[in-house]
Amino acid sequence: MQQETLEGLLVECLRDIYDAEKQIVKALPKMIKGASNADLKAGLSNHLEETKEQVSRLEQAFEILGEPAKSKPCKGMRGLLDEGSELLSEEEPGVMLDLSIIGAAQKVEHYEISAYGTARTIAEKVGNQKVAKLLRKTEDEEKAADSKLTDVAFELYGAEEAAADDEMENKTGRKTAGLVNSRR
Ligand SMILES: [Fe+2]
Repeated sequence: MQQETLEGLLVECLRDIYDAEKQIVKALPKMIKGASNADLKAGLSNHLEETKEQVSRLEQAFEILGEPAKSKPCKGMRGLLDEGSELLSEEEPGVMLDLSIIGAAQKVEHYEISAYGTARTIAEKVGNQKVAKLLRKTEDEEKAADSKLTDVAFELYGAEEAAADDEMENKTGRKTAGLVNSRR
């Protein structure tokens, strides 16, 4: 009885994530277009391809469970992506917009890591290793994408600090302590 309930819950989770992933496939091209930094563009483009794979991985999971691949509108992801698209229309292209895009994309990744973590745990609890393995693969990809975004953010912070140092040097003729100086 408990297993039946958990399996139902798993299907519900998958329907939510399935919708979320499809929303992300639609939203990523706008983020890629709005990004200026080459590494950010490349990272997001790579993740778009990964996300398409993730959608088909979910379809495989539905098939294993003998359920139709149906999605249930994911309001959480809708909200995150709406905020992301607001940024794109409000800010000018450049480092600050890139950092904002990274922030928005990381919120999306964290939502997914959490959603996949829950679904994967339920799959493990009901003993469906095939589904658990598929979900874990995607969960790992989301974690890798998140940490890549952190790397790009630090690259951008570094560039901003170097630019601020140059400006300070021009104004005062003195070199500042750079990274150490600006780390809070
Ligand atoms: Fe994803």
